[in-house]
Amino acid sequence: MTEHDKTTHFGFQQVPVNEKASKVADVFHSVASKYDIMNDLMSGGVHRLWKRFTIDLSAVRKGQRVLDIAGGTGDLTKQFSKLVGSEGQVILADINSSMLEVGRERLTNLGLTNNIEYVQANAECLPFEDNSFDLITIAFGLRNVTDKDKALRSMLRVLKPGGRLLVLEFSKPTNPLLEKMYDTYSFSLLPKMGQLVAGDAESYQYLAESIRMHPDQETLKDMMKDAGFVRCDYHNMTGGIVALHKGIKP
Ligand SMILES: C[S@@+](CC[C@H](N)C(=O)[O-])C[C@H]1O[C@@H](n2cnc3c(N)ncnc32)[C@H](O)[C@@H]1O
Repeated sequence: MTEHDKTTHFGFQQVPVNEKASKVADVFHSVASKYDIMNDLMSGGVHRLWKRFTIDLSAVRKGQRVLDIAGGTGDLTKQFSKLVGSEGQVILADINSSMLEVGRERLTNLGLTNNIEYVQANAECLPFEDNSFDLITIAFGLRNVTDKDKALRSMLRVLKPGGRLLVLEFSKPTNPLLEKMYDTYSFSLLPKMGQLVAGDAESYQYLAESIRMHPDQETLKDMMKDAGFVRCDYHNMTGGIVALHKGIKP
């Protein structure tokens, strides 16, 4: 079997493994300039609460080194930058130059310049030294990564022993009625909102489909264990629409 014959999912489509990353890149180049406003609109602002909980659970302290992978426009980086202070450091890493650019401009305009570094990087092969971060976060990013197991192993490698990984991601609603309502919302309304606000229905159709293809809570927990994390657990939020997974590097 050649590389071209192997396939993976891109939303509900099957695509050659080596084409997924460029399809994901097209999505985020297209939505970057409208990303923040769409997040607020689509979630009714609730994504801010999911991120707030992530920050709280991170228990980040002054002087620590944090990697916010798939950091995009920098919602988490912004808070971490304040928490680690001038002796600490936050690296906002993202594979997509457009998202990285929007994030850099936004945080620079907020005056957050002394402890943030921006790195264009793929979560599957992080360009950082072994054992170099106290905390890694990946928020709404893992879903888009082609080889998630490889990405989890790469995160484990760069975490310090005792360091924690937090994965904030869409997951599986725990209540069938909620799931039905959420399906109707995602497949009928989201692409229309995307068309109206960002002039791009397709990217928001991909968003809805990619959420359905992402491993559910227990599967992701097992993937984290298999990658080598210990004390793995998760918290459901908004009835399991979103879950925050935690794992520690032994
Ligand atoms: C939905 S956005 C999330 C941005 C931000 N973390 C937030 O919560 O608002 C997903 C981000 O994942 C990035 N991404 C996708 N695949 C990636 C990969 N393989 N490695 C690193 N970043 C990736 C995209 O470029 C995009 O910026």
